[in-house]
Amino acid sequence: MTADQLGRPEPRYAGPRVRPRPRTRQEARAEVIVGALFVLTFLAGIGFVAAYAVDASTQVQGVLLALAFAGLGAGIVLWAQRLLPTRRTIEARHALRPEPAAEVSEAEAAMREAESGFTRRHVLLGFLGTALAGLGAALVVPALSLGPAPGRELFVTKWRKGSRLVDVDGNPVNADQLAVGGVVTVFPEGAPGDAMAQTLLIRVPPDLLDLPAGRASWAPDGYVAYSKVCTHAGCPVGLYRAIQHALICPCHQSTFDVLDGAQPTFGPAARALPQLPIQLQPDGTFVALGDFPEPVGPSFWNMTSGGGA
Ligand code: FES
Repeated sequence: MTADQLGRPEPRYAGPRVRPRPRTRQEARAEVIVGALFVLTFLAGIGFVAAYAVDASTQVQGVLLALAFAGLGAGIVLWAQRLLPTRRTIEARHALRPEPAAEVSEAEAAMREAESGFTRRHVLLGFLGTALAGLGAALVVPALSLGPAPGRELFVTKWRKGSRLVDVDGNPVNADQLAVGGVVTVFPEGAPGDAMAQTLLIRVPPDLLDLPAGRASWAPDGYVAYSKVCTHAGCPVGLYRAIQHALICPCHQSTFDVLDGAQPTFGPAARALPQLPIQLQPDGTFVALGDFPEPVGPSFWNMTSGGGA
């Protein structure tokens, strides 16, 4: 325990004045190089911001960012290796009693001397701060490229309760248009061509359907509707093999069983195509009973938690 820890004031050094060791020529050169590397980091960081602002090529931006990181890393390594003291100093243990002023060691006195006032270390720290400011700007500015938050966009489509099923030209689809084994791409009325709402209306023999529990009424007379957006990577599921009642995505050959709620039976897709609940109207057209019960398209990280704004 030292005198300071006992609550007594630190003794003043009254011995001979000890001066910090003068820096060598190598140290002086190392200081200049470290400072230059930090300045390089700053300039490269600011250059990156400027290149980003004028939409320069990604190669130019990459080189500037690499220069900024390289300058910072090289400067810190050089500083640690060439300028930080490596000499080991052992200080005698203090006695547990008030120490006379003259007993303060020379090493401690030298340290106090070196730490007082404006030192070279402060200059280098200033350069380091400048370098970090430039690099920080380079790392923060690209955040401007992030688009708006998707909010609930990924969880809903344009299908609503009562939306009439229309073809790509906006004409209502009639049940008579489809023979057993037929398929047509449909959209909600008012949004023909909508990428997220595109849906496949397929007619199958009703007695073959083996839909998940609670969905029997979603497929009147064997007309069943599934999202056309592949749950693997979002390609349109454009092929229907009527004999096998299989929908096939041309991108990576994911195959979905139309009779069994469009469960994947082959390929990389891990999720069934969402089914749209539909109702057959007296005039032979169809309306949706609501939106898809789950998000369409590729899975995303908070899909099951229902996140979003
Ligand atoms: S996008 Fe459909 S299988 Fe990959």
